[in-house]
Amino acid sequence: MNVRIEPIRSVKGTRDLLPPDTGLWQQVEAEAHRVFAAYHYGEIRTPILEETALFARSVGADTDIVMKEMYSFLDPLDLEQLARIFTEIQGQEGRPQGAFGAAGLKAALWDVFPREQKLTLRPEATASVVRAYIEHSLYNQGGIHKLYYLGPMFRRERPQKGRYRQFYQIGAEVLGSQSPLVDAEVLEMLVLFLGRIGIREYQLLLNSVGCPKCRSEYLNGLREALQSVKASMCTDCQRRADTNPLRVLDCKVEADQPTIEKLPKIIDHLDPECRQHFDRVTSELQARGLAHQVTPRLVRGLDYYTRTTFEITSGALGAQNAVVGGGRYDGLSEMLGGPPTPGIGFSIGQDRLILAVQAAAVLKSEATLAAYVVWMGEATLPPAVRLVRELRAQGLSVEIDYDPMKIKRAMGVANKLQARFAIIIGEGELANGRYQVKDMRSGEQQEMAPESISSYVREKL
Ligand code: HAM
Repeated sequence: MNVRIEPIRSVKGTRDLLPPDTGLWQQVEAEAHRVFAAYHYGEIRTPILEETALFARSVGADTDIVMKEMYSFLDPLDLEQLARIFTEIQGQEGRPQGAFGAAGLKAALWDVFPREQKLTLRPEATASVVRAYIEHSLYNQGGIHKLYYLGPMFRRERPQKGRYRQFYQIGAEVLGSQSPLVDAEVLEMLVLFLGRIGIREYQLLLNSVGCPKCRSEYLNGLREALQSVKASMCTDCQRRADTNPLRVLDCKVEADQPTIEKLPKIIDHLDPECRQHFDRVTSELQARGLAHQVTPRLVRGLDYYTRTTFEITSGALGAQNAVVGGGRYDGLSEMLGGPPTPGIGFSIGQDRLILAVQAAAVLKSEATLAAYVVWMGEATLPPAVRLVRELRAQGLSVEIDYDPMKIKRAMGVANKLQARFAIIIGEGELANGRYQVKDMRSGEQQEMAPESISSYVREKL
C-alpha cells in the first residue's frame, strides 16, 4: 500500500531565497559592506532573540508592532506550570471560575512570568543595537559610534508582495552625536549606496517629529482639532483620534484625506531648538545636492523617534513602497536604562530593495561558472579531478560530474550550466598531455597544456 507522505512547506510569510537570486542578494550586501566601511561604520551582530521588554520599552507598548506583530513566547514553555498558574489566577480575588475574559486571562498569565522568560524574535534591530551599546559600555570609549547590521527580522503581518513575516534589513546607526550634519551624512551615505546598486527612481521623504516637549503640546492641539472632525472620518480614525492621534495622519482612506490635510502639522509646532535642527538638516541636504521632500504627514510607527524622521519610497514597488525607514532617537538610550546618548539611523528593507534592484535591472544575477570539465573514459577521471581541484584552489568556479557521460550529453550540461568554458579530457588528450578548451561563447576550441588553462580562463572571463 502506498502511504502518501505529506510534504512540509515553509511557514506562512517566510520564503526560501534560491540561486541565482541569492547572487543578487550577495552583491547588494557586498556593496553595503563597502559603502558603510568608507563612512567608517563597523558591523555589529546582535542576537535574533531578545527579551520582549526591550521592544515594549523602545518601539512602544502601544504600537502595532508590539501589540499585534511580535513573535513572543515563554522560554521554557512549561505547560504544567502554566496550568497550575492558570488555576490559581482563576480563583484569585474571589473571582468565580471563568470570570476573566480571554484577553484578560492572557495578560494576567503573561504578567506572572519573569522578564527573562519572555522572549521575542526581533521585529527590528535599533533597540538591540542600543541595548548592546549600553551593555558593553561603549559610551566609555567616548566619541561617536557608527554601527551597521544585516539580518532577518520578524513581524506577524499579513503577507503580500514585498511584505513578509521573516524579512531582511540592512541598517546603520550612529550613537553619540546631536549634530544635524550627522543626519545629512547618514542620508548621503544611503543615497550613495542606492546609486551604487542602480536604484535612482525614489523619493526621500523628510519630516521632524520634534522632541517629547514640543510633541506633547502638538498632540494636545491635534487631539482637540480631531474632536470636531472625527465623526466624519473612518472608524479607524475615530478610534485613533482618542488612542493614538498621530496615526490618523497615516490613514490611507481616500474620503479622509481632505480632512487630514487641514489638521495641524507638527512641523509648524516645533520648539526653537527642534526647528533650528530641522532647518540645518534641510540646508545641509541642499548643500550636498540631496533631493528631498518635506512631508509633514510622515509619522513613523515606532515610538522612539525624535526630531528628524525619513522614509525612502519607490514607485516601482506597488503598495509596499517604503524601502527605507529611519530617523533620530535621542531619548532611546535613556529609555533603555543607559546614559543620555543621541542617535540616528535607518533600516533598508532588503526584500523590497531587491525587488527595486530587479526592476532597475542594473545588477544582474551573474552566471558565474568559469568552466565545466568533461572526462571521457575511466583513466581520464583522476587527472580531471586534479585539474578541477587546482582551478578551484585558484578561486575559479568549476564544475564536474562524477558519473560517466557521452560527450554530446556532457556538452549539453556545460551549456545548461552556462559555463564560460568546457575543458575536455579524452584518452587522446591524456596521451599527449594537452586538453581541449572550448570557449562556449565563441565556439572556438584549442588544445592547451593543463598548467596554462587557469591563466587563459582567468584572462578571458
Ligand atoms: P521600519 O520602518 O519599521 O523601521 O522598517 C524599515 C524597513 O523595513 C521598511 O521601510 C520596509 O522596507 C522594511 N520592512 C518592514 N516590515 C517589513 C515586512 N513585514 N516585510 C518586508 N519588509 C519590511 C525600522 O525597522 C527602524 N529600526 C528603522 C531605524 C533604524 N530607525 C532608526 N534606525
